[in-house]
Amino acid sequence: MKVAITGTPGVGKTTVGKVLRRRGYDVLHLNRVAREIDALLEEDEERQARVVDLHALERYVEEWEPESDPAFVESHYAHLMPVDLVIVLRLHPRELERRLKKKGYSPRKIAENLEAEFVGVCYGEAVEVRSGGHPMRPPKDVVQLDVTGLDEDEVAERVLEAVESREGDDVDWLEDEEAQRVIERYLQYREGEGDEEG
Ligand SMILES: Nc1ncnc2c1ncn2[C@@H]1O[C@H](COP(=O)(O)OP(=O)(O)O)[C@@H](O)[C@H]1O
Ligand SMILES: [Mg+2]
Repeated sequence: MKVAITGTPGVGKTTVGKVLRRRGYDVLHLNRVAREIDALLEEDEERQARVVDLHALERYVEEWEPESDPAFVESHYAHLMPVDLVIVLRLHPRELERRLKKKGYSPRKIAENLEAEFVGVCYGEAVEVRSGGHPMRPPKDVVQLDVTGLDEDEVAERVLEAVESREGDDVDWLEDEEAQRVIERYLQYREGEGDEEG
């Protein structure tokens, strides 16, 4: 079984991937694969993000024959890959802000990622692409895990449990007042606001 580990940049996908690899599971780090198979199309200077050839990566993941079961693919676009289960790591915006600051991200980049986590972009996309056009019925193969406050081994445990149970957490930061306050502090940095570039 192939399992995607996805989520907003900074939630800990690569870190849990390393733990799972240490425990003997095959884990594809899609950013590295993209580099290796020449699927990096261009560097998007404005958004400081890389544009990848998703179709090339899909083919690669489709043809991948891992030795472990389950095996994992890890990336903030892993939920778009041909996998059997999608696990979305969710992290409270207060903790995500702390981590992204530590990484040295610009306020604008922090704002972009905080907002993506706040509204649940990866989860929403996963539900959309896997619900066969019926997004009112959340698919059973998309599971969210709230990893706030968990160390990397605890995250790995929860991922492995979710692979077995297909049960996760109901995560919704939109109603969380502390999360709202974090987001509000970054409103001025939102794309298209307070600058001319859009
Ligand atoms: N469970 C955790 N507890 C505390 N810090 C973590 C945890 N997982 C990751 N981190 C830290 O958060 C940052 C982002 O982690 P990373 O695995 O690179 O996230 P992602 O791959 O989702 O972008 C790193 O500095 C990492 O050391
Ligand atoms: Mg990563």
